Amino acid sequence: TVPISTVSAKSASQLGSADMPKPYAAAFYRPPVLKPQSTSVDPDGAKVNHYRITMRQADAQILPRKKTGILGYEGIFPGPSIELEQGTRAVVHMRNQLPQFHPKFGHLMATSTHLHGSASLPQYDGYASDVTPRGFCKDYHYPNFQPARTLWYHDHGVHFTAQNVYSGLAGLYIMHDKLERALLPQGAYDVPLVLSDAMFAADGSLGYDDRDHSGLWGDVVLVNGRPWPVMKVQPRVYRFRMLNASVSRSYRPSLSTGDPLYIVATDGGLMPSTQAVSNWRHGMAERYEVLIDFSKYKPGQRIELRNLSNPNNRDYDHTNKIMAFDVVAPPSESAMKLDPKWNVIPTKLADSHVMALTEKDAEKKRYFRVEHEGTGEPWTISDVTWEDVIASNFKLVSADPRLDAVEVWEIENKSGGWFHPVHIHLIDFQILSRNGKAPFGYEKGPKDVVYVGEGEKVKVIMKFGPHKGRYMVHCHNLPHEDHSMMIQFRVGLAADDPDPNDPIHAAP
Ligand code: C2O
Ligand code: CU
Repeated sequence: TVPISTVSAKSASQLGSADMPKPYAAAFYRPPVLKPQSTSVDPDGAKVNHYRITMRQADAQILPRKKTGILGYEGIFPGPSIELEQGTRAVVHMRNQLPQFHPKFGHLMATSTHLHGSASLPQYDGYASDVTPRGFCKDYHYPNFQPARTLWYHDHGVHFTAQNVYSGLAGLYIMHDKLERALLPQGAYDVPLVLSDAMFAADGSLGYDDRDHSGLWGDVVLVNGRPWPVMKVQPRVYRFRMLNASVSRSYRPSLSTGDPLYIVATDGGLMPSTQAVSNWRHGMAERYEVLIDFSKYKPGQRIELRNLSNPNNRDYDHTNKIMAFDVVAPPSESAMKLDPKWNVIPTKLADSHVMALTEKDAEKKRYFRVEHEGTGEPWTISDVTWEDVIASNFKLVSADPRLDAVEVWEIENKSGGWFHPVHIHLIDFQILSRNGKAPFGYEKGPKDVVYVGEGEKVKVIMKFGPHKGRYMVHCHNLPHEDHSMMIQFRVGLAADDPDPNDPIHAAP
């Protein structure tokens, strides 16, 4: 952790003290749920929701007295949440009505939308180099066959993902199923928390400094786009879907009371059993669903969700805070009786198929090194960067699993004092080991991002499918991804097979 005094002024907000937001002054805000424009039925009987989203520039009220220009899905940050049931397909008509060039950072606003957490066909997966320029649109098709989970959609445009997501291009996508509905709090008690951080220029606009492509750490923590908000809660069990949408900051959430938080789901949905923790390491793009039991607190009590310090983040005055909960009086006894999940923390949850895989099932083992060539130099994965993939005309792949192959991948962090949340597209994986030992209790659920800490070595297992094609693997510290810690793998295709789902050279 770098002490505040050594953080250069340029990398912190330039706001005067009256404009700088104060912790626990803003009210909690829940992103709106997007309504489908229409619905239809596919020939096989599956229901399809048709959504329409326009990416556009807008002003947001993040600061108490100044407006902040953002680029958002439907002009808001976070974008509107898509919420549907497992088995309901979605077609999202994505329109790029952004300015041609970023109004502050100057780069071309050509976007690619990735649904993070879904097994999408390659041409709908948000392939970084498959960009949609201003004035164009693209229909993304999502099958939604996976178990219930918290997903998110975000920009993945090549070289500028960091600036684009930071400017607001991120939103939630929530998929329910019967099991999850029976086990966990729903509706008003099922609360999304999108964490991010930002720094502001004196005029209220977003500041950006990625410190020679190592990372951007803001001095203002946002939850659903509001600085350190306060949420009123009833004395009962709540479920929080926590997404770390920060560009580079990881979190270690904990309660000011020292009471446990109960992790019930990871990136790919329900874990086998509830894990009580006092805090956990929450890297970028990871989702943890957490129950907090407020039934033991009195109306009038304030409980803070704090952020314990993590090495390799830049800490500022209030980045040790996330948000606060103010307990209000409970509703009537009879209302409480109607809701069986009022104060129940389930213990047994669900066994996702990926949690049943064991190392014996693997037909192949592969090894990857995440590395850094030095300040301002590329970030690499086993010596490969996305620049190499581009130079190969998108032919260069770093792995070539068969369709339905089970493989074990070992990822070692050889980059010195940096951590890398590594995301593998298409599949859910299970973390088999971390530094030769069992993974942390809270990460024993289906995952699609693995936090590879300083000097760590992790092993993950997964089954490649159900789609053939080329998919990315990258660090979710976005300046690392953009410069250029991203590679690809090819599923179920030989090197010279024609790729029917080619995301960027689609047959005419
Ligand atoms: Cu959340 Cu390839 O990204
Ligand atoms: Cu990284």
